[in-house]
Amino acid sequence: MPAITSTAPGKIILFGEHAVVYHRPAIAVPVQSLRTRVVITADPLATPGTIHIEAPAINLNSDILDLVPEDHLVLTITNIMKEIGITYIPACNIRISSTIPVAAGLGSGAAASVALIRAFSTFLGKPFPDDLVNKLAFEIEKIHHGTPSGIDNTVITYNMPVYFQYGQPLQKFQIKLPFTILIADTGVPSKTAITVRKVRQGWEQSPEKFENIFDEIAEITNQGKHAIEIGNILALGKLMDQNQILLQAIGVSSAEIGILIDAAKQAGAIGAKLSGGGGGGNIIALVDEESAKNVGKALLEAGAKHVYQNQLRTSH
Ligand code: MEV
Repeated sequence: MPAITSTAPGKIILFGEHAVVYHRPAIAVPVQSLRTRVVITADPLATPGTIHIEAPAINLNSDILDLVPEDHLVLTITNIMKEIGITYIPACNIRISSTIPVAAGLGSGAAASVALIRAFSTFLGKPFPDDLVNKLAFEIEKIHHGTPSGIDNTVITYNMPVYFQYGQPLQKFQIKLPFTILIADTGVPSKTAITVRKVRQGWEQSPEKFENIFDEIAEITNQGKHAIEIGNILALGKLMDQNQILLQAIGVSSAEIGILIDAAKQAGAIGAKLSGGGGGGNIIALVDEESAKNVGKALLEAGAKHVYQNQLRTSH
């Protein structure tokens, strides 16, 4: 049997992170240049049912039986088997490799789930449709971080720019003019679960204040969608700046994020904000052709561990 391979992209959130957990809309886009790859090969010499998993990014090299049952990879595999209704599987090796930085707000967890669900269901002869991949990946997101909105698994499963609101049908949108985003890594790992919990505590203490901020973020997200649809890049940058101020107000920015944002803006970025859970992780900066190089350089000089360039356009 030939090896089964599946890949999934990373993601960035352009507008609306955290507020989206409280059922406000958010906009996310896939990042094609950062990817997780899952390769599954049958192992006819091993005892049937043996599954060996190797995932160097998280220092994992183990038989599935040696992992705790609540491990998210084990749960992904058992959920797929339950869904298909089988208990027996041929022995196999699963290798998960990724260029998406872990705990950096770029969707590494959701990408691993999506690629694994696709590859393993195909390996078992029942490749799952996107809606089922998305549903199962959402179940795993819940284990990763308690109360996820579902935006990460959605943008990564469907692999297209999305305007997402919990419980609403997914909306696509057109990108009138292509635009360039630099993604810069603070190098500070930050688990989304922790910042999501921090926001929850703030919301419990001052519900009115947080609800008002979430409403303001929702308004910015809607204006951001409009700016993208009409190709108003200057407005888009301003809205990113405004979103960042509100993310600061709910306590998910950090000194390192602030340093990179200031460096990007001083070097000519049109707008900049954190992206994803915050508390560390990555910032995104909107640049034009003239400023891209300078901003990239300034970000590295200000301490960014990596800068990735990503051009956003509607794919046809
Ligand atoms: C994480 O990429 C985005 C958050 O809004 C969490 C979520 O939506 O589940 C911080």
